[in-house]
Amino acid sequence: MKPRNDPGYILRHFNAIAGSYDFMNTLLSLGLHHRWKRLAVEALGLVPGERVLDVCGGTGDLAILAAHAVGPEGRVVLCDFSLAMIEAGMPKIRRVAPAGRPDAVQGDAECLPFPAEEFDGAMVGFGIRNLAHMDRGIAEMHRVLKPGGRLMVLEFSLPVTGWFRRLYDFYSFSLMPLAGKVLAGNRTAYLHLPESIRRFPPPEDIKGLLERAGFGQVGYRRLTNGIAVIYRGVKR
Ligand SMILES: C[S@@+](CC[C@H](N)C(=O)[O-])C[C@H]1O[C@@H](n2cnc3c(N)ncnc32)[C@H](O)[C@@H]1O
Repeated sequence: MKPRNDPGYILRHFNAIAGSYDFMNTLLSLGLHHRWKRLAVEALGLVPGERVLDVCGGTGDLAILAAHAVGPEGRVVLCDFSLAMIEAGMPKIRRVAPAGRPDAVQGDAECLPFPAEEFDGAMVGFGIRNLAHMDRGIAEMHRVLKPGGRLMVLEFSLPVTGWFRRLYDFYSFSLMPLAGKVLAGNRTAYLHLPESIRRFPPPEDIKGLLERAGFGQVGYRRLTNGIAVIYRGVKR
């Protein structure tokens, strides 16, 4: 039986796909993830000089966008437990991020290696779904945010329209694993993605979870008929 969100399994999964992650992301989302990420970082409302944490930052797309938003006086830290994912993103970071930023730290989202009240903003893109204990990850982001600090979670969900959902099911359970097998040599890894998306709670439940974790003004915005959702909250 395949483990679900066992951290060892998740780490091996991302280590295995790190080299092809960016390419496959763009291919499988038909390029949409760039737009989702841009809107997600905009939702944080970053201003120059702020300090931002990118949890489960992977190859750094959100961190790069944030680094441009906070400018040379600001600070962006990418945190991920997969060194392979961080390293896979480094050539891109050197190419398109402002010089010398963001910083990258290897660390666990459920036990963040930062002091309390360190950041103005915290964000996590397509990472929270993978945590063994999502509530711990959310509590950790709450801890490292300053009072009034903003949280942004970008995560997959399911389409709201029936016909689109059926199309999406076919795409994600048939085409996606096939593309994973042919292009990345790893069918299992690309079956993990649609399965974990279906196990993930719906937006209203995530909203409740964020509120119970101590975030106020929680809201969410569905993107592309609900395939992706941007959640936002403010530390109370
Ligand atoms: C789907 S990728 C998302 C990467 C990036 N945020 C993006 O949007 O492209 C998920 C990332 O979460 C990381 N991750 C999963 N569980 C983690 C944990 N417990 N602590 C830190 N990173 C974790 C994985 O290594 C992987 O890089």
